[in-house]
Amino acid sequence: MKKTVLITGATTGIGKATAFAFGNKDYNVVFTSRNQARGEEFSKELSDKGVENTFLELDVTNEVAVKTVVEKAVAKYGKLDALVNNAGVALGSVLMADATTEDLRQMLDTNVMGVFYGMKYAIKEMLKTGGGAIVNLASIAGHNGLLYTAQYCATKHAVVGLTKGAAIDYATMGIRINAIAPGAIKTNIIQASIDTGAYSEESIAAIHPMKRMGTPEDIANGIAFLASDDCPFMTGTTLFVDGGYNAQ
Ligand code: NAI
Repeated sequence: MKKTVLITGATTGIGKATAFAFGNKDYNVVFTSRNQARGEEFSKELSDKGVENTFLELDVTNEVAVKTVVEKAVAKYGKLDALVNNAGVALGSVLMADATTEDLRQMLDTNVMGVFYGMKYAIKEMLKTGGGAIVNLASIAGHNGLLYTAQYCATKHAVVGLTKGAAIDYATMGIRINAIAPGAIKTNIIQASIDTGAYSEESIAAIHPMKRMGTPEDIANGIAFLASDDCPFMTGTTLFVDGGYNAQ
């Protein structure tokens, strides 16, 4: 039976590359976006490349909506083999005391609660259908402090905590749960910080031993690996795809 993956926030950046990575591995790709037009456009792009896909509109901060999306994916394809909790936001690249409470709340709602909802409802379905794999988007900011990023760091450390704890809970139940920690990847999130003048592309590249930023494809391949049968003994861990950043 063909496998099925659900990817949140998948019309841009890492999520988009991840949809193609799973499509290339012949998965059914269920993907979400908050934007109907962007979702439909990307669905066509995937179909044109021969990828069986379903687009569902979703704001991951809405628990009921997350539950519904997971259930719809299972209803359509019979089973959910993999969930990629990709949707995330990075707001306010400033010194901590200059950050707004509202920005942190939005990051907690999206990066932490959104991931929790996805895991919760996917796990319930996976338990019914013989297991699966979950990959959560953490970050090098989930293991370290980074300049102007304390609040985002807090949310990504929480993702690592959810990953480790849940991995232990379900280790004997056929569900593997891992995180991936990208270094700085060329996507909208980083571009927003470059646009505000907080960083430059050169200064971001310079913090990585490889002296470059990563590509969405670099991360997508790591995600597809973590979700695959090629790593059956991996759970509760974080795969660093960071140009050597975490080795320093
Ligand atoms: P991106 O901005 O292109 O992708 C994030 C996606 O999440 C967007 O499509 C956005 O619309 C969606 N999203 C945001 N809030 C949402 C919500 N409430 N409900 C549903 N969707 C929502 O940026 P990128 O880089 O592709 O980000 C993907 C993930 O990778 C995020 O979790 C991010 O924190 C993480 N990450 C990115 C790094 C980077 O350097 N670009 C580094 C480490 C982690």
